[in-house]
Amino acid sequence: MAKKTIRRKRKSERIRAKKITAAPKEEAKRELNISAIHEGTVIDHIPADATFKVVEILNLENEKGVVSIATNLQSKRIGKKGIVKVGGKNLTQDEVNKIAIVAPDATVNIIKNYEVKEKIKVKTPDVIENVVKCSNPVCVTNHEQVPTKFYVSKKEPLKIKCHYCERNMGKEDIEII
Ligand code: CTP
Ligand code: ZN
Repeated sequence: MAKKTIRRKRKSERIRAKKITAAPKEEAKRELNISAIHEGTVIDHIPADATFKVVEILNLENEKGVVSIATNLQSKRIGKKGIVKVGGKNLTQDEVNKIAIVAPDATVNIIKNYEVKEKIKVKTPDVIENVVKCSNPVCVTNHEQVPTKFYVSKKEPLKIKCHYCERNMGKEDIEII
């Protein structure tokens, strides 16, 4: 067995603790929840319980750029909200429509050179195709390769009806494909 050599750490090897002084109050107050982005898209005013659904819709798990996600932030308008910032990404119309299904009050901000160049208010589509899974286990869409299709019967709170089995579904039944 190798002989254990115990020696005192040289002064230079010792971990030096650095005293951290608290930031001045004013500075802390001004701090943003997530820093501003240079180029990309900011999805704001997402209901807190839909923040991660937006992440799923945009497939951000596989995104190569910088992605910042914040949820349960205080919002005067919608209570608790979420914000998703995606550096270097432009959303497609299809992605914007999908976001509207889970976040009907969301705002999509297009950022160019740190400035908000465009602010899009999402709009719930009248027909939702190939986005939501039908909650009816015997629905044909759950057994065959058929893209799902729903008609929006009510926008707020969302009520949709399956084109194939006529099952009515509410916000709570919505599962993104
Ligand atoms: N934002 C960002 N990076 C930038 C500019 C803006 O991340 N370079 C974010 C802001 O933090 C905010 C959103 O984009 O979450 C919209 O910015 P802005 O229109 O400036 O904010 P508000 O006026 O608060 O937006 P709204 O009126 O939609 O509430
Ligand atoms: Zn169905």
